[in-house]
Amino acid sequence: MRLLVTGGAGFIGSNFVHQTVRERPDVRVTVLDALTYAGDRTSLAPVADAITLVEGSITDAPLVDRLVGESDLVVHFAAESHNDNSLNDPSPFVQTNVVGTFTLLEAVRKHGTRFHHISTDEVYGDLELDDPAKFTASTPYNPSSPYSSTKAGSDLLVRAWARSFGVQATISNCSNNYGPYQHIEKFIPRQITNLIDGVRPKLYGAGLNVRDWIHVEDHNAAVWSIIDKGRPGETYLIGADGEKNNLEVVRTLLEIFGRDAADFDHVTDRPGHDLRYAIDASTLRDELGWTPRYTDFRDGLEATVAWYRENEAWWRPAKAATEAKYAAVGQ
Ligand SMILES: NC(=O)c1ccc[n+]([C@@H]2O[C@H](COP(=O)([O-])OP(=O)(O)OC[C@H]3O[C@@H](n4cnc5c(N)ncnc54)[C@H](O)[C@@H]3O)[C@@H](O)[C@H]2O)c1
Repeated sequence: MRLLVTGGAGFIGSNFVHQTVRERPDVRVTVLDALTYAGDRTSLAPVADAITLVEGSITDAPLVDRLVGESDLVVHFAAESHNDNSLNDPSPFVQTNVVGTFTLLEAVRKHGTRFHHISTDEVYGDLELDDPAKFTASTPYNPSSPYSSTKAGSDLLVRAWARSFGVQATISNCSNNYGPYQHIEKFIPRQITNLIDGVRPKLYGAGLNVRDWIHVEDHNAAVWSIIDKGRPGETYLIGADGEKNNLEVVRTLLEIFGRDAADFDHVTDRPGHDLRYAIDASTLRDELGWTPRYTDFRDGLEATVAWYRENEAWWRPAKAATEAKYAAVGQ
């Protein structure tokens, strides 16, 4: 099978490529990645000899057309993915997430290529903290930020191309991922690398916002289940029942680092910060037989801390600039 992975030098995409090379020797992987600040060639270094990396944008229609024409399957991770950045400058979010997805869809339509679109549970907006409900595939879309609204737009394009043009596409909406190779601008790796540097972790507001955490390996195993057994045209929600508020995450990290539970600082909350996300992944579990491997959040977090400790050369170059960006907005 000839597989094209967009955004394969980013966090989830690079883990997907590693997992695919490790577990599916019959798959020939090509990565298309623009290598923005979030993409890192070195994230693919351990598999560099087994794959082809093409540096380019998913908005480049002739390039996308050529690469899709040479593929049997496209798995589409490429995106601008950081909420805070989308509040500062939404323009690359519209370009990559909406126009880039459109460009890919036109190519898979022309070549009849199977397409899997990676999306987020943030398209559903948020739930009240005391609401027992979870998101399902029929929850109405209600995105809050430029990031989530452009992801919602891309999902709707995929649905329309499946329905109107018969494109063989599936969509997955996953909850918050953690694990190796995640950019240190994101909540968990930022706190881990602060703690490694002896700096107190930083918590948005009171830290009561709830995220449904899933290990990136479990997300990617679910993506392969959908590719193998999913029904074209369907949307699958991916989550591992990992609801934790940000305060709990920070306290668990402090415990892993042997620090006092009160050893953190509060910083100004992000505007429009969603309260709670929670995923009902029963279709994926019942229909496709997927189950997560990382069921103990503390264990998964400990393994992630170990990875950041052992791979300082990977994250150190971005640390000072990332902290300077946060410092400029008082976070
Ligand atoms: N991180 C999460 O918790 C999470 C949860 C659910 C869904 N998702 C979705 O998963 C996907 C991957 O997220 P991530 O956290 O790995 O993001 P990331 O920011 O780490 O990686 C994105 C990758 O896309 C590349 N890219 C950006 N613009 C591009 C363009 N125009 N052309 C080609 N490549 C481009 C970047 O260089 C980078 O390698 C995204 O679609 C995101 O919406 C993420």
